[in-house]
Amino acid sequence: MARLIVDTPGGTYPVHIGRGVLKELRRTMARLEPTGAVVVADASVRAIAQAAAKHLKAARVKNAIYVVPGGERSKSLAGLAGLLAFLERQRIDRGGCIVAVGGGTVGDLAGMAASTWLRGIRYIEVPTTLLAMVDSSIGGKTGVNGVRMKNAIGTFWQPSAVISDLACLDTLPRNRYREAFAEVVKYAVAMDRGLFDVLHRESARLTAGDQDALEDVIERCATAKALVVARDERDRGPRAILNYGHTAAHALEAASRFRISHGRAVALGMRIAANIAFALGLCSERLVDAQDELLTTYGLRDEHPRVSLDRMMAAIPTDKKARRGRVAWVLPRRIGHAVIGQDVPVRLVRRVVRGAIA
Ligand code: GLY
Repeated sequence: MARLIVDTPGGTYPVHIGRGVLKELRRTMARLEPTGAVVVADASVRAIAQAAAKHLKAARVKNAIYVVPGGERSKSLAGLAGLLAFLERQRIDRGGCIVAVGGGTVGDLAGMAASTWLRGIRYIEVPTTLLAMVDSSIGGKTGVNGVRMKNAIGTFWQPSAVISDLACLDTLPRNRYREAFAEVVKYAVAMDRGLFDVLHRESARLTAGDQDALEDVIERCATAKALVVARDERDRGPRAILNYGHTAAHALEAASRFRISHGRAVALGMRIAANIAFALGLCSERLVDAQDELLTTYGLRDEHPRVSLDRMMAAIPTDKKARRGRVAWVLPRRIGHAVIGQDVPVRLVRRVVRGAIA
């Protein structure tokens, strides 16, 4: 079992990682002493939500379960309104808290509700997907989608604890497990050379879901994220490193009308970013190949999706990190180190993107 601390101006909190750590909810309740709680859960993890509710009950915290209907579609202002109305019906007061059980969608929605209900109540993240364990559950970004733009409406609101129980991954569909490795490779290439070596060495154990290897990898990713968030909670500078691969990925998701999963889009986005870096003389061809090989090892093959080049190029300047149409790329220099805020000629982007799609 691992425990690390995230320390930000907006809050300091523990991240518990390991098999069976869901029971940490009891100790967390003893620390927070909430006046009541709502467990906000994804419909696919009802059993985990019920287990969480039992721990709350054992800690004498009155609670109710709110099952988020409709997955990603609920990550909207209408979905938020539904959840806020539930908090009101449950008479959650300022001393109350939310426990978010699910993937990034539920975490973002529940966090947004926590940050706005009565101008802010506490919440606890119980991520049930590998993607949420290594990324979205840490760092306090909450939000819902706008009409066209993903995560357009949101807040920074740090959770009071993150509880990543590896047992939650037992029921995670294989493809979702595999695709989370795009974000894991992101940390390795952009920030952590040691993690890159671990991913190489332990690929057989990790692809098979070996718990010890997985705990180590989740801890490394969470530590990398905690360090970045501690330096730049509000995403004004260094936090942009976490956007490695995401500039092209978000454009690809938009151009494909979200038919391409986030993991596949990030994998392709990192291939595009590395090829741009190589063309600019920022990194070696060896890095491009090493990243490509590692992604392929984790089942994220270099498949060229069928999306329109024009549509994708049009979507790139709408990236949330762009200012006046100027896109700030995150580009790798060497394994374990990337640079942020890079300007890239549009012609070069177009050439590389053309080579990456059908
Ligand atoms: N997922 C990127 C961030 O938290 O900043």
